[in-house]
Amino acid sequence: MALLLLFVLVLTLSAAVSADEDAFIGVNIGTDLSDMPHPTQVVALLKTQQIRHIRLYNADRGMLLALANTGIRVTISVPNEQLLGIGQSNSTAANWVSQNVVAHYPATNITTICVGSEVLTSLPNVAPVLVNALKYIHSALVASNLDRQIKVSTPLASSIILDSFPPSQAFFNRSWNPVLVPMLKFLQSTDSYFMLNIYPYFDYMQSNGVIPLDYALFKPLAPNKEAVDANTLLHYSNVFDAMVDAAYFAMADLNITNIPVLVTESGWPSKGDSNEPDASLDNANTYNSNLIRHVLSKTGTPKHPGIAVSTYIYELYNEDMKPGPLSEKNWGLFDSNGVPVYILHLTGSGSVLANDTANQTYCTAKDGSDSRMLQAALDWACGPGKVDCSPLLQGQACYEPDTVFAHATYAFNTYYHQMGKTPESCDFKGVATITTTNPSHGSCIFPGSSDRNGSLLNSTIPAMDSKSSGFPVYGSAFYTVNTLIIGVLGWIAVLL
Ligand SMILES: *[C@@H]1O[C@H](CO)[C@@H](O)[C@H](O)[C@H]1NC(C)=O
Ligand SMILES: *[C@@H]1O[C@H](CO)[C@@H](O)[C@H](O)[C@H]1NC(C)=O
Ligand SMILES: *[C@@H]1O[C@H](CO)[C@@H](O)[C@H](O)[C@H]1NC(C)=O
Ligand SMILES: *[C@@H]1O[C@H](CO)[C@@H](O)[C@H](O)[C@H]1NC(C)=O
Ligand SMILES: *[C@@H]1O[C@H](CO)[C@@H](O)[C@H](O)[C@H]1NC(C)=O
Ligand SMILES: *[C@@H]1O[C@H](CO)[C@@H](O)[C@H](O)[C@H]1NC(C)=O
Ligand SMILES: *[C@@H]1O[C@H](CO)[C@@H](O)[C@H](O)[C@H]1NC(C)=O
Ligand SMILES: *[C@@H]1O[C@H](CO)[C@@H](O)[C@H](O)[C@H]1NC(C)=O
Repeated sequence: MALLLLFVLVLTLSAAVSADEDAFIGVNIGTDLSDMPHPTQVVALLKTQQIRHIRLYNADRGMLLALANTGIRVTISVPNEQLLGIGQSNSTAANWVSQNVVAHYPATNITTICVGSEVLTSLPNVAPVLVNALKYIHSALVASNLDRQIKVSTPLASSIILDSFPPSQAFFNRSWNPVLVPMLKFLQSTDSYFMLNIYPYFDYMQSNGVIPLDYALFKPLAPNKEAVDANTLLHYSNVFDAMVDAAYFAMADLNITNIPVLVTESGWPSKGDSNEPDASLDNANTYNSNLIRHVLSKTGTPKHPGIAVSTYIYELYNEDMKPGPLSEKNWGLFDSNGVPVYILHLTGSGSVLANDTANQTYCTAKDGSDSRMLQAALDWACGPGKVDCSPLLQGQACYEPDTVFAHATYAFNTYYHQMGKTPESCDFKGVATITTTNPSHGSCIFPGSSDRNGSLLNSTIPAMDSKSSGFPVYGSAFYTVNTLIIGVLGWIAVLL
């Protein structure tokens, strides 16, 4: 990817257009596990995690039955290997719909059908029948009177978009125009989505250092590092938004401007081989936590502020049977026992995140703090701060290790919980910080950790909806001139 970073003054912006569209986070469920949990176990995990939108890579009957009457919105897929048959015969398509959709709907709330997966890039010889496959599946839905409830589309790899930075210059690899042009017309005429898989991890890996890691991870960028599209003056603070906008511009290049983008896959691996140092727990947690917050905040993208970009995280489970580098087996949020690989950092995401594991927060002394400042803060907490510091006395549960750091952590955390976990109550003149790691040890149980085991298993992911209803509704204002003008004026106002 040719990425052009212009170095300009940073302008931190909030979206100029208010966010009022629904957005949701869903999760992909791959099944390449040596001990794939039974569908009832999968569904139990989805329920405890309050995951309300999922995507399957097939239309597994066991899963569809287990998902019945759960309220979970289900995207099913025509696997690539069935595409050729379906794209060549409308009756094969009709049979597929009757077996895999009609037989389960509405008990199982199938909302979307993905016809194939990254077909253009992974199975180019089938590309000529792709649009027919979409049309035949859609016709079968029409015949069953389900076409308004169930959308049909096909997830594409972002590599079909060329020159994706600056986004305003993006266009589709023209060799695919014979497929893409009729496909976009189909998506437009059926009110469907443009489905895109976005992997800033790979963009970052392949950029040879051009893309800063922080830019891929949605971390705040240094003022001189923000990427600016010189043609539009739009500022990009993360790769994800830049890719979504590149898709909008690439569609516009084909004169199509009203198909919403749905991100069918995005994520970050938590572990990799020695030559994949950025596949780490920390980065995976940072990426997915920031992605969830970003999507649910409904800020949209610089090109379409306020327009939701609902996203399915890749993926629910680590898939140990996946071939390839170690990172390929480690995209999951959970292991096969349903134990979270990491606890997402979702503090501050608002009331949306009802059962946030971020509730599971602690206050700890900050590494590298001055020990005199720590001692002073400890004295304050145990005195005026009214923390019961008796567990820190010799012979008591939290005496060991007898260090200022450990004792201060206990006192800070207790104070923080006494104060209802407000962020200000974990500061202590800068020597304290909030963490999701439970500092309890041995018999020294810290306040906030009473439900330590249970909640780890029960909730790593909060309610994954910006509202609890389903798919985003794209209002008629979506692409009106007004929206754009307000957007541009917003920018100019800030620029001035
Ligand atoms: C949410 O958290 C509360 C308190 O920890 C718990 O009782 C409840 O079962 C949780 N709900 C879900 C759906 O995990
Ligand atoms: C398939 O296409 C043929 C010819 O266009 C049409 O006659 C037939 O009704 C279609 N069948 C289904 C199941 O849609
Ligand atoms: C465009 O797609 C064609 C056909 O798949 C491929 O051979 C070519 O390498 C692609 N071009 C670029 C620049 O990726
Ligand atoms: C898009 O519209 C412009 C102007 O009407 C036209 O010149 C161009 O050929 C169109 N492109 C496509 C791919 O239809
Ligand atoms: C999460 O923390 C907030 C503030 O401390 C509290 O009001 C809320 O009840 C907690 N939620 C759960 C599920 O524990
Ligand atoms: C958590 O689980 C471990 C092992 O399963 C157990 O030894 C420990 O007592 C549990 N702790 C709490 C607080 O329930
Ligand atoms: C977690 O789930 C278990 C069993 O499903 C339940 O007994 C426990 O109360 C839950 N804990 C929390 C904190 O929700
Ligand atoms: C199924 O999902 C759709 C889209 O989110 C929603 O509008 C509908 O009410 C759901 N149907 C049922 C039966 O839950």
